[in-house]
Amino acid sequence: MEALVCKKLGDPSTAAGGDSPIVLSKNHPVPPLDSPTTVRVRVKATSLNFANYLQVLGKYQEKPPLPFIPGSDYAGVVDAVGSGVSLFKVGDHVCSFASLGSFAQFIVADQSELYLVPKECDLVAAAALPVAFGTSHVALVHRAQLGSGQVLLVLGAAGGVGLSAVQIGKIRGAIVIAVARGDEKIKLLRSMGVNHVVDSTKEGVTASVKNFLKSRKLKGVDVLYDPVGGKLTKESLKLLNWGAQILVIGFASGEIPLIPANIALVKNWTIHGLYWGSYKIHRPSVLEDSLKELLSWMAQGLITIHISHTYSLSEASLAFAAIKERKAIGKVMITIDDASHSRSKL
Ligand SMILES: NC(=O)c1ccc[n+]([C@@H]2O[C@H](COP(=O)([O-])OP(=O)(O)OC[C@H]3O[C@@H](n4cnc5c(N)ncnc54)[C@H](OP(=O)(O)O)[C@@H]3O)[C@@H](O)[C@H]2O)c1
Repeated sequence: MEALVCKKLGDPSTAAGGDSPIVLSKNHPVPPLDSPTTVRVRVKATSLNFANYLQVLGKYQEKPPLPFIPGSDYAGVVDAVGSGVSLFKVGDHVCSFASLGSFAQFIVADQSELYLVPKECDLVAAAALPVAFGTSHVALVHRAQLGSGQVLLVLGAAGGVGLSAVQIGKIRGAIVIAVARGDEKIKLLRSMGVNHVVDSTKEGVTASVKNFLKSRKLKGVDVLYDPVGGKLTKESLKLLNWGAQILVIGFASGEIPLIPANIALVKNWTIHGLYWGSYKIHRPSVLEDSLKELLSWMAQGLITIHISHTYSLSEASLAFAAIKERKAIGKVMITIDDASHSRSKL
């Protein structure tokens, strides 16, 4: 099978071949069913998350030994099942996430880790769901218990997790404020019914949000969803209400922000550190319920997956570049054709 292999750490957005840390292996062994309850999935699509980029750079918290096949969330068609599999059959549409290995034509998972994708759902969209929407759902619904009428401020709002937080915020009836950069991102966020959008290249976040809050007679932000960190976090803290909740999601800016404990005390803030993947070990039922709810929302058309870039495995360096250069709006995907009608690559 074809698989993208990370042979050394480095910047995967540099062109494949030559000095690139990622190499397309064309004769990688197809993973075997290694226990009676495992299922082999022919991957139709897999999504690129910021974490996949950090992992190949060697800057992610989980550092697998080299070589490894990167990739976490995916969707595809069941290709083979072990003798003890009772939940799935060959041909079923499924999605899931792994800590590694989805940038390949096949992946093997235990049946307990797979989710049936309803027939109404597009498989490529389902591959974009687990990490981005899963993170925002656990953060906003399970942790912050965001309620109707609360003010939600989303940073990096047009990125993968950001755009999912915006949609989940709207579903929960929150007043959603989004911060992003550039006309295209702003236009998309407005089209999604966001209550106030700030283009951080054109206006100061604090002043713009304060004006909006004043115009709506609102006291401040109740929930801050922060996948960016750095200066933007520092500015956002000035907007938080008494009793606000801060969801620490990530540091796309590369800067880990400091949240002063004395102010958290005086203002009764709650700071949630959220590492979605670790729910698989510590609270698997929360994660399962969350993904099932998201798939049902998707089937009902309550959430839409916005995909700005789609590439093949051989074009993976371009996919990483889209993430690195902040061009992604919503999700960046890698789609994998069936071997029977795969187009020629390179
Ligand atoms: N805690 C968890 O379990 C979890 C789960 C998923 C993701 N994350 C983290 O969340 C963050 C975002 O992930 P993602 O997949 O949504 O990434 P993404 O699609 O690339 O979005 C990141 C957004 O951050 C903004 N940004 C601000 N400064 C940036 C910079 N210097 N470089 C790149 N982007 C910058 C960009 O928006 P503008 O250009 O509009 O400013 C971009 O849209 C990452 O740090 C990731 O590791 C955490």
